[in-house]
Amino acid sequence: MIQTRLARSESVMRTPTQALKPQEADKPAMPDFSNGVPMELFTPEALEACPHARAMFERMKAGGPALSQENGLESVALAENGSWIQEKAPANFQAVTQPSREWTGKEEIQKVLSTSPKNVEDNAAKGEEATEMRLFARERIGEIQHRQLDAGADKMHRTIHTKQLFGGDVEVHWNPAVKEMFNFFSEDSTGGLARISAASNEQNPDGKDMYGFALELVGTDGQVTDILMTGGTPRTAASQAEDGMAQLALLNMVGISSKVGGLAKMAYEVGPIDAGRMVVDVGRMKTELNSVSDLEAWSRAPFRLKGKDGHHYLVKMKATPLSEKAPEAQEREGETTSERLANDFAAKTAENDTRWSFDLQFMQPGDDPNDGRKTWSGPWVNAGEIVIPKIQDGAKAKEMAQAAEETKFNIWKGKEAHDQGPDFEVFYPHGNTNLMRLWAYGESARNRGVAG
Ligand code: HEM
Repeated sequence: MIQTRLARSESVMRTPTQALKPQEADKPAMPDFSNGVPMELFTPEALEACPHARAMFERMKAGGPALSQENGLESVALAENGSWIQEKAPANFQAVTQPSREWTGKEEIQKVLSTSPKNVEDNAAKGEEATEMRLFARERIGEIQHRQLDAGADKMHRTIHTKQLFGGDVEVHWNPAVKEMFNFFSEDSTGGLARISAASNEQNPDGKDMYGFALELVGTDGQVTDILMTGGTPRTAASQAEDGMAQLALLNMVGISSKVGGLAKMAYEVGPIDAGRMVVDVGRMKTELNSVSDLEAWSRAPFRLKGKDGHHYLVKMKATPLSEKAPEAQEREGETTSERLANDFAAKTAENDTRWSFDLQFMQPGDDPNDGRKTWSGPWVNAGEIVIPKIQDGAKAKEMAQAAEETKFNIWKGKEAHDQGPDFEVFYPHGNTNLMRLWAYGESARNRGVAG
């Protein structure tokens, strides 16, 4: 079944990396945001993630236009009463920490922007091709998660990034120059929730791993934006996969009973050379993390920011530890690596704030916007500071840890054409790889908790 789909969607999988083609118009192809939104665009992911989408969908079902006549954006409650999102919405949120250092200045950012390609064409699939990708992503993710049941789990869990090492409050302070130069979050500091995870599919992984750093930030009017990064070493700051199809081919190795059969299938799907390279790269990205506070993580895929100059720019994101490097970890008898990391960080957050620099790398001429395996050449400029504040209230911290466990992170929250929230231009997902993530994350989240 999947092979048939793959064969049919070969053009999706093997699309050669497109040359950079700045458009004549001063804007990249933006999704159409009009009253004629077809019903089928209201994906389960959008309806789950975005109150705007739900409100529009209900209105259309009742026979009305998708959008209000006046301005497009509905006035809807963006968060349920009493939810953590409502607590962190700008109207209610007061940061408890302050930024700790000087910011990159406007001139430096302007210099980087002067050479950064503008309005880069988006290679995200459309129409039938996108439908094929969606079907394939859903089927493949479901298939992988069903293996969890076959292996004895009583219900399905995240496809990957299963073990939460930390979940709780986060604050991000923004560089005022970035706020001034781009369509950005409205506030100087944004509250949210962070989930730091071991990237493996195992419930209690031991040994080397990759690590995930997920943020759900509550921005303008309470609209959430998710930022997902994975950790490795600077040498492997790129992704192991060229695009979303390659990533799904790789993910298919997860929980498979026959590694040889799995490799053969991956080789069939992406070609033997790429398959071999991905396996090697994944191995290299696994690190021996001494402490969660040492985690360095990259978005790997690019996202779009709209400048106040009217141009769109592509950026990659990175989190670099600002806290002092942790002393050598003390192994305790019987602890797995992931338990050690979680326990160690719980002790640290009881004592101190933990800080990361949040940096952006603007695309430069010659950088590839669509091949996840290629690193970019430009300097990193400092755009913000991520702070996990010292825990003040243990009971509240537990609630937030549970909320993080339950959060269905998706980089498309508030960004899809028909559910654009007020911050839709802040880190808008670029390209086919990111498009695939819409459905992969949605399906994984939807299956969670489903018993066999
Ligand atoms: C390109 C860069 C990518 C980065 C930086 C990234 C990062 C992450 C992170 C941090 C998480 C954990 C979120 C959490 O804590 O719940 C995650 C989960 C996941 N990722 Fe990615 N990812 C990338 C690409 C992809 C691609 C291309 C696919 C598949 C097409 C994919 C599939 C998944 C799935 C299925 C999950 C589990 C989602 C859930 O159950 O909620 N990722 N990713």
